[in-house]
Amino acid sequence: MFNPACRACARLAEYLDEVRAQHPLYHAAPVPPFGDAKARLLIVGLAPGLHGANRTGRPFTGDYAGILLYASLHRHGFGSRAESISMDDGLKLIDCRITNAVKCLPPANKPLPAEMRACNPYLSAELAGLPPGAVVLALGQIAHRAVLLGCGLKQSALPFVHGAEHVLPTGQRLIDSYHCSRYNTQTRRLTEAMFDAVMARCRVLLDAACSV
Ligand code: URA
Repeated sequence: MFNPACRACARLAEYLDEVRAQHPLYHAAPVPPFGDAKARLLIVGLAPGLHGANRTGRPFTGDYAGILLYASLHRHGFGSRAESISMDDGLKLIDCRITNAVKCLPPANKPLPAEMRACNPYLSAELAGLPPGAVVLALGQIAHRAVLLGCGLKQSALPFVHGAEHVLPTGQRLIDSYHCSRYNTQTRRLTEAMFDAVMARCRVLLDAACSV
């Protein structure tokens, strides 16, 4: 299970020590998943951002990427409000949980492959605990790869394609989306409409699973 004091990756733990010294009010520790462990929609991001999730302690909160994510979740009935501001803002996720492939802030936003592997048992446990009919939404190729690893699949088993739907060995669905990062949205690789369409598809799949 998630360890809020994890120091398994020396490089990340030492980096967090430096960041904590520079920013004493920041969370600057592994960022736990947000939302009910039994939620049927699991969203997997990459890793906390320096002045976002690493500051607030909640995934995609204070990060540019969270603006589109939380607004879209709210539009599709997965969030009680359209914004996530801080741990104590009262926002509730509805049948949705958000986690990251890597729980600690990586230097330059780039976790190393060994760090991805070392952190993966947390994600693997989250995937194993999903209820029947759940949908996993991978934000970006790194999250997609982390989900495959977490399910014991080879990396070649399922290709990452924006909008693609895959069936995981447990029967649950995996949906891919480009990451809702500032770079992807500002270059319009990912538009609000594209992201909304992915979220709408998650909603349809979950509603269909309810009615069988
Ligand atoms: N913040 C997160 O928590 N995850 C991301 O992937 C990006 C920003």
